[in-house]
Amino acid sequence: MVVDKFRVTPWEVSGEVDYNRLIEEFGTKPLTDAQIKKIEQIAGKSHHMLRRRIFFSHRELDILLKEYESGQKFALYTGRGPSGNTHMGHIIPWIFTKYLQDAFDAPLYFQITDDEKFLCKPDLSLEETNKLAYENALDLIALGFDPKKTFIIVDTDYAKSLYKIAIQVAKKVTASTAKSVFGFTNETNIGMYFWPALQAAPCFVPSIREGKNVRTLIPAAIDQDPYWRIVRDVAPKLGYLKTAAIHNVFLPALTGPTGKMSTSSGQHATVFTTDDEKTVRKKIMKYAFSGGRDTVEEHRKLGGNPDIDSSYQWLRFFEEDDEKLKQVYLDYKSGKLLSGELKQILVDKINGFLKIHQKKKEEMRGRLDEFLLKD
Ligand code: TRP
Repeated sequence: MVVDKFRVTPWEVSGEVDYNRLIEEFGTKPLTDAQIKKIEQIAGKSHHMLRRRIFFSHRELDILLKEYESGQKFALYTGRGPSGNTHMGHIIPWIFTKYLQDAFDAPLYFQITDDEKFLCKPDLSLEETNKLAYENALDLIALGFDPKKTFIIVDTDYAKSLYKIAIQVAKKVTASTAKSVFGFTNETNIGMYFWPALQAAPCFVPSIREGKNVRTLIPAAIDQDPYWRIVRDVAPKLGYLKTAAIHNVFLPALTGPTGKMSTSSGQHATVFTTDDEKTVRKKIMKYAFSGGRDTVEEHRKLGGNPDIDSSYQWLRFFEEDDEKLKQVYLDYKSGKLLSGELKQILVDKINGFLKIHQKKKEEMRGRLDEFLLKD
């Protein structure tokens, strides 16, 4: 989708994203208070990403929740394109997916698209994307997913099963649809034209494995929605239920309130889950866009602007405690808290998280096999 000021496609996000406009253009629905309440009621606890509308939009959530309440279980599906190390933006939907898995006792199918990244990144070999796939998988399971209920699909290693589903999907999607939905041109390689059928396939894997129709719910950033539009169109034609989705906003770039944080638009300012404490500190101190004033004096007198300050915006994603977050907001706005101090709060938060995360990753390295689906 391209509007004058911003652009959101599965391969590119740039400009200052207007999320209400996206809801309209993509044809999704805003997440309502009632839906949030219902999820929290079933979960027995709230989640800061719901409270703060980090998840803000959906498709077919009402039907899914109604079915769940009448005893019909669903499966979760999300994924990762292994084009490099995992960064803090990637794990936002995964953290929320863990909450959903626990709340709804739902199996999770997690697709890692080594084939896609090989096809769309000119500089990456299949060996590289396949290797990255298994490294990235550790970032998922480090978040505490249940091996009995979590099924990781590395595309090239589950190809036989996926291929049979993908060709069913592909037969129902024309090149002109692919062109208009994904912006493909005559110069796009033919692998990419077929590829969306592969991202559709896991929507139907739970039904095939369980031998009955199971609806899937996809928690993912809104840029992936074009795929779900196609899947939902095709599903009934193949005898499956339409996939439901719940969409999150992007973790903003550290460098300012435009675009999402992405490796392609600036390695140096991207915080990876593999970064050590010093690197995290350096990146945040150097690159986090500040909503503060030019001088300490002015800042004390007039206060800062948390709404445009990257460190504060990141805390909205990573500081679960509402009271703490609010205090930071008020102190920054009043000028009591300086920009450097606010950055330090974020540094401590991220490093605290990564310390545990990196330890868990190493603990899980030998257990990866328990999670992998193989043909
Ligand atoms: N295409 C996604 C990416 O490049 C990877 C992916 C595959 C995905 N299946 C998914 C993401 C389902 C979210 C939900 O990152």
